[in-house]
Amino acid sequence: MFQPLVIKDLVAKVPIIQGGMGIGISLSNLAGHVAKEGGIGVLSTAQIGYNTPNFEKSPLRANWQAIEDEFKKAKEIAKGGIVGFNIMAAQFQYDKIVKHAASIGADVIISGAGLPVNLPELVEGTKTKIAPIVSSAKGAKVLLKTWAKRYSRTADFVVIEGPKAGGHLGFKAEDLQSATENMDAEVIKIVEIVNEFAEQFNEKVPVIFAGGVFTKEDIEHYLSLGCSGVQMATRFVATTECDAPEDFKNRYVQAKEEDIEILKSPVGMPGRALKNDFSKRIKTEKIPIEKCRDCLSHKHCDRKTIPYCISEALLHSVRGNTENGLLFAGANVYRVDKITSVKELIAELTN
Ligand SMILES: Cc1cc2nc3c(=O)[nH]c(=O)nc-3n(C[C@H](O)[C@H](O)[C@H](O)COP(=O)(O)O)c2cc1C
Repeated sequence: MFQPLVIKDLVAKVPIIQGGMGIGISLSNLAGHVAKEGGIGVLSTAQIGYNTPNFEKSPLRANWQAIEDEFKKAKEIAKGGIVGFNIMAAQFQYDKIVKHAASIGADVIISGAGLPVNLPELVEGTKTKIAPIVSSAKGAKVLLKTWAKRYSRTADFVVIEGPKAGGHLGFKAEDLQSATENMDAEVIKIVEIVNEFAEQFNEKVPVIFAGGVFTKEDIEHYLSLGCSGVQMATRFVATTECDAPEDFKNRYVQAKEEDIEILKSPVGMPGRALKNDFSKRIKTEKIPIEKCRDCLSHKHCDRKTIPYCISEALLHSVRGNTENGLLFAGANVYRVDKITSVKELIAELTN
């Protein structure tokens, strides 16, 4: 058995965080069940209300309400377990959304896709614990230095996302190979940096590794490098409790290694996904936006020049059009061979 993951007054029996997955992949059912089994369940705020009646008419309003509704449902399922949100720094109205999530009692907020420089001030006065997602020692240092200087505090925990993760990646496409080879050394460096800042504030700051974690041995490996836990996403997609439609999950089970590719995302980062008609199309075509649902800030998405709309692409894949949608997945998706329950998966990973 592993040691529990302790983040200040929060104690997760199992040192596994289920990574936030938008759009519509990690909602209340998945997050609630992971939390119930002792891990940390994470809702993604990306178009979180996509499945509610008012979404197409008023996406921002529907998402606002769904943040509350999904959190409440997840907490009910979790029966005292830890539930929080993944909120991308690139999200439209990031500040407002973080404040909203913290005000309704989010246990944790994890923010990547850009450096969440002002995250501390957005949760001030609440009990919400915060973590940036970083991919390099340099990024970790810059952010923690900024937080120390500006807010006289450090992170409550830090998530390192390596090059094998699903979704957007914090590496240039051409650097993925070398980053994969050097990641262990980078993890050790990041743990050192985090510990320096932790000491400065007389705190313990757990470091969590994400990206390609698949087995119990993988978890043991990252603990041996100085991490206190892992964040996993791909394996949680292939669970009965995952909020993704069956078709999406089946794509994971059927995926072979050659079905995975690195795509260009309109956010300006590379993304890892499964090959399909959509991934073929975007190589040669610019796909016009049908309608902007304000998912990303204007700084991160130029509505006029983007090659395709990330929300539309992700919405297709959860609305039964998996061939024409973006199917984010981690580098180890080809090793997924069945759909299991969250309980069985956590037992396999910890026993
Ligand atoms: C389908 C899918 C959607 C994801 N969506 C998000 C997201 O909205 N925001 C984010 O920060 N990370 C996102 N991620 C990254 C995960 O949270 C996680 O850190 C990463 O995938 C871990 O690697 P693994 O999938 O190999 O376990 C996504 C990953 C997947 C597979």
